[in-house]
Amino acid sequence: MTLLKLDIFSVRNIQSASIQPSPGLNFITGGNASGKSALLEAVFILGRARSFRTQHVKQAISFNQACLIVAAQHAQTQGSISNLGIQIDNKQYEIHIDQEKRLKADLAYLLPVQLIHPKSYSLLDAGPQYRREFLDWGIFNHNRNFLPNWRRYSKALQQRNALLKSRQLRQLPAWDRELVEYGNVVNTLRKEYIDHLTPVFLQMAGQFLDTTQIELRFTAGWDDQTSLEQTFKTNLEKDLRYGFTQSGPHRADFLTFHNNRLAKDYLSRGQQKLLVLALLLSQVRVLNNIAQNDCCILIDDLNAELDTENRSKLLKYLAELGCQVFITSTDFSDFGDLSTLNNYKVFHVEHGCIQQL
Ligand SMILES: Nc1ncnc2c1ncn2[C@@H]1O[C@H](COP(=O)(O)OP(=O)(O)OP(=O)(O)O)[C@@H](O)[C@H]1O
Ligand SMILES: [Mg+2]
Repeated sequence: MTLLKLDIFSVRNIQSASIQPSPGLNFITGGNASGKSALLEAVFILGRARSFRTQHVKQAISFNQACLIVAAQHAQTQGSISNLGIQIDNKQYEIHIDQEKRLKADLAYLLPVQLIHPKSYSLLDAGPQYRREFLDWGIFNHNRNFLPNWRRYSKALQQRNALLKSRQLRQLPAWDRELVEYGNVVNTLRKEYIDHLTPVFLQMAGQFLDTTQIELRFTAGWDDQTSLEQTFKTNLEKDLRYGFTQSGPHRADFLTFHNNRLAKDYLSRGQQKLLVLALLLSQVRVLNNIAQNDCCILIDDLNAELDTENRSKLLKYLAELGCQVFITSTDFSDFGDLSTLNNYKVFHVEHGCIQQL
């Protein structure tokens, strides 16, 4: 997929901008506070209907404006062209695809965006919910059964936890049956996805870290030698004591090992960053192999995170990957030697105005 034309209105300090990005690499430069991250945020909002910078997307609306709009002319990987748009005001959002009102998931399938920014690098040592989000976004794009099953599991879990809190045990078996049914599907899809991701990730980790001794271990969220049904029964007393369900797919996680040691405890900070990069990019590769639309990659603040050698390794990799990428940095020289690249454009941002150089 490629964004052929991107229109942005009232996103942070970008009042109004229209660009025609390259289908390959797009380098975005500009001083601090010029609006580089705002440009990436606009693309992210168009794909995910939320912001990566703030909890409430409405905070991205320019001061003194009633709403923000991001719209694009979008070419699908098979070639058909559509017009996407999202409008967000203080209370609600509206999504349009070719003039028809549509749902967030429709937009997300059409424009999958993978983001790499300074906070992404805490994936290994942040709480397990970040790793679950990482996994689940990949699975959402990998298998369309995931979203409805995950939603039903989450709803049943909410109901069960409310019953545990108010100690209404009579209705519990009905919700347990739902949790078991949808929870098992969610768990199976996660395991399937890990099986797809692992070889790609190991190959990429080898490329970025010069090692093959990496391992990814998935944990289901309960001792999966025991059935989920039995687990809920055995844990009931404990669940009642705590007022919520202790074990199940909502506690799933994965751990990364290097030479049989937990990567987050032993690898250097730089090595951990490269490992996260390998995870995020392997997810893109798996997605590109299977989904209808290739992923769009957003990299905010390239310079802040990688040394010169790894930056050039990454840019070479991205150029060969062939999908659309937007990369920001304050200095053009941070992008290194671009003489061997051909499919790229450079944009300069100043006070929220974007100009192609
Ligand atoms: N809702 C908003 N409305 C208007 N301006 C905003 C809003 N939120 C943030 N800003 C301002 O927008 C400007 C651009 O921010 P942005 O984060 O995009 O800069 P940047 O170019 O990425 O800078 P840096 O190099 O420091 O990362 C900043 O001055 C910021 O304070
Ligand atoms: Mg920024």
